[in-house]
Amino acid sequence: MKVTSHPVGKAGGFAFTAENEARAGQIIARYPEGRQASAVIALLDLAQRQNGNWLSTEAIEYVANKLDMAPIRVHEVVSFYTMFNQKPVGKHFIQVCRTTPCWLRGSDDLTGTCLRKLGTKLGETSDDGLFTVVEVECLGACANAPMVQINDLYYEDLSPERMAGVIDDLKAGKEIPMGSQTGRQGSSPNGAAAAGVAAIVEEALVVGEDDGAEPAADEAAAASHDAPPTDADAEESVAGADELTGVDQGMVTADSPADEDVAVDAPEVAADEDTAATAPRATDKEA
Ligand code: FES
Repeated sequence: MKVTSHPVGKAGGFAFTAENEARAGQIIARYPEGRQASAVIALLDLAQRQNGNWLSTEAIEYVANKLDMAPIRVHEVVSFYTMFNQKPVGKHFIQVCRTTPCWLRGSDDLTGTCLRKLGTKLGETSDDGLFTVVEVECLGACANAPMVQINDLYYEDLSPERMAGVIDDLKAGKEIPMGSQTGRQGSSPNGAAAAGVAAIVEEALVVGEDDGAEPAADEAAAASHDAPPTDADAEESVAGADELTGVDQGMVTADSPADEDVAVDAPEVAADEDTAATAPRATDKEA
């Protein structure tokens, strides 16, 4: 009986297309000889995309053979990471984020809307093969909660009504703009928050206009900004910078008195009872 640490999987039924084969070669080449297994996630992703957004046993073992890995090692990776699907899914794979910010903003209602509309349970694919709905943990778009990911794209600021509209649009083959579904830009303030920010900005602008300076002083200041810098300005500027950085006070020279002060102060700090985090060790030693 032949015993091997890398039993060869049965990869029949799956093979990379010529394009993906070339892409896989580029990915594997990023890693040193003997470290090809580091490419496993990237190759699984490539295989999943080619295989209709799920990984069959054949596809998993094809990747294992390609990377000279034991198939069980690749199965372990696939079953650990939730972005890999181990059974066929619909054309539109809807992942509803259910973590706290999205949940507080109504993710349960989004899930309910999807399932009622499609007549499925979580993880099932609709009869027309178009939709599969699952729940996932935080997808990192909490500021625009609640949100879902459909295939590679995020749809945010959703309401149950808009979620239903998204499904209708996808069924009808329409293109839906990704991102916020309320029209706000990125995660910019929205609704009452936006009005509050606008009021603060307006107030700041008004205060800035009424700075109490005499018009003449304003004009002089403007003129001084417009005038080209002179040598005297440059000297003044350097002197000012020195004052700020303490160059003239010798604070940055290695053998200056200032450094001596610092060196003398340091042991006192260490010996301070309040900060003597390492004191017990010294005590242990002595003991
Ligand atoms: S909690 Fe939903 S994106 Fe973070």
